Amino acid sequence: MKIQILTIFPGICEGVLRESMLKRAREKGLADIQALDLRAWAADKHRTTDAAPYGGGPGMVMKIEPIHRALQELRGEDTRVVLMTPQGRKFSQPLAETYAKEKHIIVICGHYEGVDQRVADYLVDDEISIGDYVLTNGALAALIFTDAIVRLVPGVLGDDQSAVQESFSTGLLDHPQYTRPENFNGWSVPEALLSGNHGAIASWRKARARELTERRRPDLLPASPPP
Ligand code: ADE
Repeated sequence: MKIQILTIFPGICEGVLRESMLKRAREKGLADIQALDLRAWAADKHRTTDAAPYGGGPGMVMKIEPIHRALQELRGEDTRVVLMTPQGRKFSQPLAETYAKEKHIIVICGHYEGVDQRVADYLVDDEISIGDYVLTNGALAALIFTDAIVRLVPGVLGDDQSAVQESFSTGLLDHPQYTRPENFNGWSVPEALLSGNHGAIASWRKARARELTERRRPDLLPASPPP
């Protein structure tokens, strides 16, 4: 899989791509992830990528030309082009699972007041928001999108099971986890987990996951059938 993040702040991405799972995925050749400087496709000598909005108003808007030029060079037959924007459809685990099957994704990062609407209308396949809040910088959103996808690529996580059993894949929040010591400051690990009885452990975990989901995220539970 190849992911190319197009941003005017590639430096924001570089640190993240050089650590932990994303680093491992790149080193193992499972994901080719690149942060590309959009300014490289700006035609003027000042490398301009933004301009004032038509109709007035505060801030600057990202121009279409450098994005169009970059896509002409980078886009292939099997490319999905995604624009990160708070106006997009909300990112989720099922969407991450869909994108994890793609061969090539180009992620366009918005900055400032937004991106010329013609980019969304004519150049991209999908507009995605990572949540109902506004970031200063689309590169942060692109990294979250990338991380959630790349960890689902087979072989990226050490233990393939861990992507299957965790929150959202099961439809529930994750059950709590504990590790050594058994007792810290008088705060002890639940008895069921120390029993060595796999059946009892599995049902304890299922019950805690269900309880937690009911309390914190009832919206994740299937609607109960009408009486
Ligand atoms: N850019 C700024 N805020 C964003 C968000 N919530 N999702 C995606 N891109 C963004």
